[in-house]
Amino acid sequence: MPVKPDLKTSFRQIYPRAPEPFIARAPGRVNIIGEHTDYNGLPVLPMTLLQHIQAACAPRAGAGVRLRSTRAEFPPAQFENAPDIPPSPPGAWENYCKAALQGLNNHFKPAAPPGMDLLVSGSIPMRAGLSSSSALVVACALAYLRILGKTLDKDISRIGLAGLLAEAEHYVGTRGGGMDQAIILLGGRNYACKIDFFPLRIEQVPLPADHVFVICNSLVAANKTGEALHRYNAGPKLSKLICALVEKQAQEEFSDEIRIERLGDLWYGHLCLTHDEVAGLLSRTFPTPTTTLQQAADRLGISTREIRDRWLGDLHEPAQGFNLQARARHMRTECVRVEAARGALLDRDAPLLGSLMNESHKSCADDYQISCPELDRLVLAARRAGAVGARLTGAGFGGCTVNLVPRSDLHALVAAVQKDYYRGYAPEFAVFPADPSDGAGYL
Ligand code: GLA
Repeated sequence: MPVKPDLKTSFRQIYPRAPEPFIARAPGRVNIIGEHTDYNGLPVLPMTLLQHIQAACAPRAGAGVRLRSTRAEFPPAQFENAPDIPPSPPGAWENYCKAALQGLNNHFKPAAPPGMDLLVSGSIPMRAGLSSSSALVVACALAYLRILGKTLDKDISRIGLAGLLAEAEHYVGTRGGGMDQAIILLGGRNYACKIDFFPLRIEQVPLPADHVFVICNSLVAANKTGEALHRYNAGPKLSKLICALVEKQAQEEFSDEIRIERLGDLWYGHLCLTHDEVAGLLSRTFPTPTTTLQQAADRLGISTREIRDRWLGDLHEPAQGFNLQARARHMRTECVRVEAARGALLDRDAPLLGSLMNESHKSCADDYQISCPELDRLVLAARRAGAVGARLTGAGFGGCTVNLVPRSDLHALVAAVQKDYYRGYAPEFAVFPADPSDGAGYL
């Protein structure tokens, strides 16, 4: 991807006294399958996109950091770099930059955290579930790494940086897993990646030869701030409660010693259960569709207050209780589907991959409840237009779908979806084939 010709020029105009800038680049990503599994220690299967964030950067005397965007909706920001950087109010875009600096300061512990000037530009559709925010964090981190005099792959490995930044992004208030940072740093031009967590492991998987992944934007903003942040965080919070209850059940069935920190520990921890054994354990842990806070407290032998203090905070409890049975089922079945999707890609079996994507959408919608009417309509429109698989992608509640389409049907599909979902008024960026690019780096 060529350097945007005007980014360095704009940088020089904005910061006329700064030294010559360099450019860090981080791509967006689309997740093919494996949704809300990463923070549960279960696998995902994403790939990078051509669309990216670029950060032009130059050192600056003192500790001041100046941050500008080429997009007017992001106001200029300025802050002091320090061992502990206080966050701006929730929703402020500079928090993503602060998150990166704080993460690297914690790791490298510079005696006097240095300043820098940054100008950010981006081509990743925003609030669309394509990871524009994590790409911003990674681009700022790569910029700052160089300002610190550190070299990627020498002073810190890509996999180490991915893990560090997954943790660092919690600074902005979301409790995401590690998928986005990992694929942005370790993905590449000709492959998707199956990623496992705790510890982070990456396997390159080939892309279909005669099919393409097409991204369709529902145009419903998938914000990760404000109300949407609470909706996203409900996943990680309820997962903690699920784990506590599963741990209790496993202790009674196997041994008091067993600890379940994440659901993935059932497969990959000391227990090493099979898919069927996990299914059995979960059905005994959650015999009814819903579990009230009181029932969970009675089962765990602690108070409802303690459950809130430890895991749920002020998460609203529905009248009938939390749908823990369905949530656990989504994680278990999604894990099975990711493994099968990896196999389908290796075997070049597009119809199988497509049907796994369709099942994943159903599970995301019915069991994990992260879809919305627009995403459901968009998925149906794509299937009607010839997609062999169609599902929401990313955190959900809006944003995009990812669709597996025979290459020969690409144009027909784009036209049909434009007519059916967008009624002919699709903005230019709304429907496009996913084209993977290099992982993050310097230009
Ligand atoms: C967001 C998070 C990821 C992951 C997805 C859902 O993109 O940042 O860690 O949880 O949602 O799969």
